[in-house]
Order: sequence, then C-alpha cells, then structure tokens
Amino acid sequence: MALSAAAEATHSIDPQRLARIRGEEEVRFRQSHPAAQRAFHQAEKTMPHGVPLHWMSQWGTPYPIYAQAAHGARLRDIDGHEYIDFCLGDSAALYGHGHPVVMDAIARDLTELGTSYMLPTEDSIAVTEDLSRRFGLPYWQLATSATDANRFALRVARQMTGRDKVLVFNGKYHGSVDDTQVELQNGRVAPQHGIASNGLDYDRTTRVVEFNDVAALEEALSHGDVAAVLAEPHMTNIGMIPAAEGFHTALREITRKTGTLLIIDETHTICLGPSGGTGELGLEPDILVLGKVLSGGIPSAVWGMNEAVGAFVKDLTRGPGINHYGFGGTLVANALTLRAMRATLSHVITPETYAGTTEIAAALETQIRELIKKHNLPWHVSRMGCRVEYLYMPDVPRNGGEAAMARNDDIELLSHLYFANRGILLTPFHNMALISPATTIEDVRAHGAVFDEMLTAFTAG
Ligand SMILES: Cc1ncc(COP(=O)(O)O)c(C=O)c1O
Repeated sequence: MALSAAAEATHSIDPQRLARIRGEEEVRFRQSHPAAQRAFHQAEKTMPHGVPLHWMSQWGTPYPIYAQAAHGARLRDIDGHEYIDFCLGDSAALYGHGHPVVMDAIARDLTELGTSYMLPTEDSIAVTEDLSRRFGLPYWQLATSATDANRFALRVARQMTGRDKVLVFNGKYHGSVDDTQVELQNGRVAPQHGIASNGLDYDRTTRVVEFNDVAALEEALSHGDVAAVLAEPHMTNIGMIPAAEGFHTALREITRKTGTLLIIDETHTICLGPSGGTGELGLEPDILVLGKVLSGGIPSAVWGMNEAVGAFVKDLTRGPGINHYGFGGTLVANALTLRAMRATLSHVITPETYAGTTEIAAALETQIRELIKKHNLPWHVSRMGCRVEYLYMPDVPRNGGEAAMARNDDIELLSHLYFANRGILLTPFHNMALISPATTIEDVRAHGAVFDEMLTAFTAG
C-alpha cells in the first residue's frame, strides 16, 4: 500500500465543512443535554475536566455525557437519553451491561459473602481450573486490571531473566505501564503520541519494532538483553492489524532462541472467541494476560504462567520468613470479584455467546463496507470476532507506523459527537464497535442509518 494514499485518505473531507458540522452538532448537544451541563459545572470544581478519569472527557462531546444506568446494550444518561451502546466500556461490558447470570451470582450472595478478606475462596479454584483448560497454561494469579497484570508479568520476566529491557510493537497499548508508553519515531524509541511522558529513560527500558517485521525483531532480541516481548495476538489499539502468516511462529522461535519470555496480552483479542487469539492461532505464550471482560464489568484481570514461569514464581517466595513477589494489591482476588468471574467464565464466555455476537458483528462489518463504498471514501473496515473498526485509509495496515498515517482526530471526534447526538455510543479513541449478546440486528440498522446520514453530511457537494 502506498503510504501517501493513506495520508491522502485522511484529508479527503473538507476541513471547513467539518468545522461547520461540528459547530451545529455542538449546539444540538448543548440544547439536548442541560442536566449534563449543570453536572459538568459542578464536577469541574472537584475533578479536572469534570470527570473522575480524564479519558472520560474525550468522547468528542463539548462536555461529558453523565451516565445514569445501563442494561444489556443500552445506556441511559442523566438527561434521559437512551443510547445504543457499541462501546460497552471498551470491552469491560463486552457481554452486555449487568449480564443477568453475573448479577444473579453476586446479588444472591453479596450480603453473606462480604468482599475482601485476604484469604482465598473456593471460587478461585474453579476459576483457575477453567483458565487452565481454556488457555493451556497451568498456573494463574489475579490482578485488579490488565494494566496491573501486565506490570506484574513484566516484573516477573525481569526477575526470571535478570534482563532489564522489554520489547513492544509500535502502535501498541497495554495499559498505563510506564515502560511501554513508547513508539518509534524516525527509527528511535520516543514517548508515545498522545501520552504525556514522565521523562523515563526509554532507551534503557524498552525496545520497539514494527509488528510483522521479523528481521527487526530478530535484530532487537539478538543483544540478549530483553526480558520479554509483550504482544497482542493481533494488534487492536491503533486500528486492527492482523498478524501476518507465519509471524507468530517466527516470534515464538526467536524468543525461545534468545531466552526472551513471550507475554501475550489477550485483553482485547478475547473478542475473537472464548480463548482469544491464543486459541485461534494456537499460540504458546510463557505468560498470558487477560483483563477487562472477566467479571461482568467488576475490575479484575488474570495472568497465567507456563510450567517454567510457575516454578520460578513459586521458588521466589519459598522462604525462609515472610516474603513476596514485589507486587500485588489488597483487593486483588476478593471474594466478590471471584464470584462474578466464576459466573462469567462458566456461563458467559462460551462458544454459544460468540456464535451470536460474531454473526451480528459480521452484519455491521458488511454495512460499514457498503456505506464506505457508497460514499466513495478511501477507507476500510475490519472485523475480529465481535469487534468491528474502520480506519481512514484504503487498505489494512501491516503495522503501527502505517496505521498511524490514518489518524485524523477531527473526523473521529466529530463522528462520535454526531452518533451520540443520535442515540449511539461508539468507543472513544477508535472508530470501533463491540457487539454484545444483547445487541440486535435492529441496533445495527440504526447504526447504518446514522452512518449513512453522517457520510452524506461529510461529503455531499
Ligand atoms: C491490549 C490491552 N492491554 C491492557 C489494557 C489495559 O487495560 P486496563 O486499562 O483495564 O488496565 C488495555 C486497555 O485498553 C489494552 O487494550
């Protein structure tokens, strides 16, 4: 693919037209969200940007939508608007808000169960047995978020190998893990686009290469100083970038040859099926990380280890006296989370669930493809299981560098505002939609009507 074609694609819509539409959409939003405006003015006094996490202010709306309730694939805000939710908490509610099986499991027992006691429950045995069967790794530990699980995994990798560097792929996101917040700029490691740097010496901590570039990977690991490669099965955070044929085989061979651990982060690629990309591609990671989706939206993550890593970790804390790995968290693996996780794994993250969500997602993919064609835009859409995303470039990118050429914050933020004004939520920082078991084909049709209207507004002469 010619990179200039991708760059041109991002400029294919007249910026003045976009600015005019943005003005109109902002007026429409303000008129229809008076309660949110009042909440925002109050909230600004105690929280930067009026939100408890700054990301929540970056949906493209003039001020935040304040949520009031959510059920299945629907979310209601404090102004009384009901939205079709294709964001689903950016995967945290991938199987729908308040899934009845999960809610039942925790509501039934909550008063008796309590929450946190720094002791294991029997649910932890059922959960880790399920994970072992599902992903083929014998040992598991828990964390409160995928970010934490990645940090724990990297710490263990450094402890086990005695090496200080990690390797990640350009354009990745693995959570707010300091030494991964980097990208390639002119072939050098630099702070990641859009993330404020804390001045860490990234040359000391991190190597970055392009995804699907076996030669660059081989060179980067040949120095013998990288503790672990941290990778998704396919990339999902700079658009969706599939692993090229043979890439994972080469990645596994080179990591083994150089004594580098392979950490596979399934946090987003669980969209592919009940055992994620590891199951689909037959991967053999040393450590596997999974977060977000496991407990019906309750904060939780897991990380699994193969025999060698499990044995090392056990040895680390063999004694004498009291000692631990150097990470953890008081609330990790609390009884409530484990009860929700057990219900989610046993009854929700199943092949039947994915059969339904994948079919609806395929309908959405087809619809977006047809509308891109109808409006003659040099964009493309891709799908991974129940996750659908389009990029402002004609072809599927091979790596993060190519995908970055398609960035256009103006179009993206306006699209999210346009959809929100018409009762549809898309995932912020992406043009991405997730399909839950509660999402219907009518929801997909509603998306199509708004997408068609929006592209007409963007392009009509
Ligand atoms: C692949 C991947 N790993 C880890 C994370 C971090 O998840 P969390 O923010 O829930 O810690 C994310 C977040 O988007 C992610 O996309």
